[in-house]
Amino acid sequence: MIWKKKTIRDLLPPPVKASHGEYSMILSACDEPAKPNDFLIKTGLKAIQIAAKVDLSSLQNEMANLWPGEHYRLLAGFMQALKPDLVIEIGTSTGLSALAMLPYFAGKLVTFDIKPWDSYPNTVLTPDCFGRLKQVVADISIDFEKYRSLIEKADFIFIDATHDGELEKKLLDLFASVQFKKPPILFFDDIRVWTMLKMWREIRFPKLDLTSFGHWSGSGIVAL
Ligand SMILES: C[S@@+](CC[C@H](N)C(=O)[O-])C[C@H]1O[C@@H](n2cnc3c(N)ncnc32)[C@H](O)[C@@H]1O
Repeated sequence: MIWKKKTIRDLLPPPVKASHGEYSMILSACDEPAKPNDFLIKTGLKAIQIAAKVDLSSLQNEMANLWPGEHYRLLAGFMQALKPDLVIEIGTSTGLSALAMLPYFAGKLVTFDIKPWDSYPNTVLTPDCFGRLKQVVADISIDFEKYRSLIEKADFIFIDATHDGELEKKLLDLFASVQFKKPPILFFDDIRVWTMLKMWREIRFPKLDLTSFGHWSGSGIVAL
């Protein structure tokens, strides 16, 4: 007889069905180590109001315009609310988030990925997209010092890479060591996913969970 190791799904079968489900936890607020500040609440509310009116149907991608539920319209909302000079993105992938943000602000977007954008067969980027948009192929958690002076100028940093909680913790510690010209907002994807729970919970900077207005798997903003 073959003995099969039990997984969490065998022990705790999901009580509901969905096309995609992830394990998570709900946690008490009384011992949460950080609260949002005025800047996060005001900017978050403004971004949500804008996101409600944003139309990303021109991207011809069902996910891009799914709101609430996906983060693309909320990202566009943050662009209009903040009017950043420089946005840094960690995790380009197919470029959908970059293209969602780009038309909604006039500054530059530098997107980092360990793989070049054109190695994704389903990329939504074309060479014409580049100009204000630039891709750097690098693991910023390793090459951070090389990009420190660029990061100092960032107004908004979108972190959407491994979601293992380890990279995100490392990046947060590195970003916290930067002397920013203006205090930036960090936007983390997937904060409700099991592997991200510890990292998000332990953040001691002002933070705000915007999941109901962003990605179903968790969207959270942090002020440094
Ligand atoms: C979930 S995808 C990003 C999706 C994209 N932001 C969007 O919403 O359309 C994650 C990407 O992060 C990249 N990645 C993983 N580890 C990374 C690292 N250490 N630095 C930069 N990018 C990384 C992966 O190659 C992958 O393309």
